[in-house]
Amino acid sequence: MLKLLVNAPKGGIGKTTIATNAALLLAKEGKKILACKLSGSSRMDEHIQAKQLEYPGLYDSITIWEPDNDKLPTNFQGQGNPDVVVVDSDDYWKILNDLVDKKNKGWRVIAPIVPNEPEGMQVIPDELATVFMQSQITGVSIKLKILPNKCGEKDTIENDISLVKIRLQQKSLLKALSSYYLPYAGMFYPPVFIDTSNLFRDQLRAALKELGI
Ligand SMILES: Nc1ncnc2c1ncn2[C@@H]1O[C@H](COP(=O)(O)OP(=O)(O)OP(=O)(O)O)[C@@H](O)[C@H]1O
Ligand SMILES: [Mg+2]
Repeated sequence: MLKLLVNAPKGGIGKTTIATNAALLLAKEGKKILACKLSGSSRMDEHIQAKQLEYPGLYDSITIWEPDNDKLPTNFQGQGNPDVVVVDSDDYWKILNDLVDKKNKGWRVIAPIVPNEPEGMQVIPDELATVFMQSQITGVSIKLKILPNKCGEKDTIENDISLVKIRLQQKSLLKALSSYYLPYAGMFYPPVFIDTSNLFRDQLRAALKELGI
């Protein structure tokens, strides 16, 4: 069982979009998915249920799970032996701190960052640098990729990515930058792009592969 968490300490940067699309595209490949919704405000379940209705049969291998508390789950008994657990989480800070705890070994993490979003550009690298530092202390290695999202919204994709590179370099986080990026898909697109943007889907697939998924 592989475990994927999508998290970063900033709202509106694409956590739910990425988690939802990851669950859908892995399910389409025939994998059994447990889509875990940690934050009450996540709409991942609604997005997945809408796709399950739209394409009968195609996404039946996704089960939605909302644990009782907002802790990173450690026990998956009774959850039907999924191939991949995909967690959509809120932007509160505790989850990333949980990752350095020995009982939470083995999580893969995607941390989205939006080049054109100053607060996230500040706070996300700051937080991730701290998490890496803590992980060295606890000895829990963290498989994490920082994935630029909404690239090309206000500037060229190349410029957006170089902005992210400069910022990550400041925090010695360049090694955690994904080799891939997610394009801005437009204002009027629904948050689930799997049917509408091949570029978005292919880049996300490749980013998952980087993490061994
Ligand atoms: N690549 C993209 N292109 C266009 N719009 C996007 C993209 N990624 C996300 N969005 C849009 O940005 C908004 C925020 O995305 P999303 O809900 O996934 O973020 P979030 O990090 O889960 O937010 P929250 O912290 O509120 O849970 C949504 O309206 C979504 O449709
Ligand atoms: Mg969300």
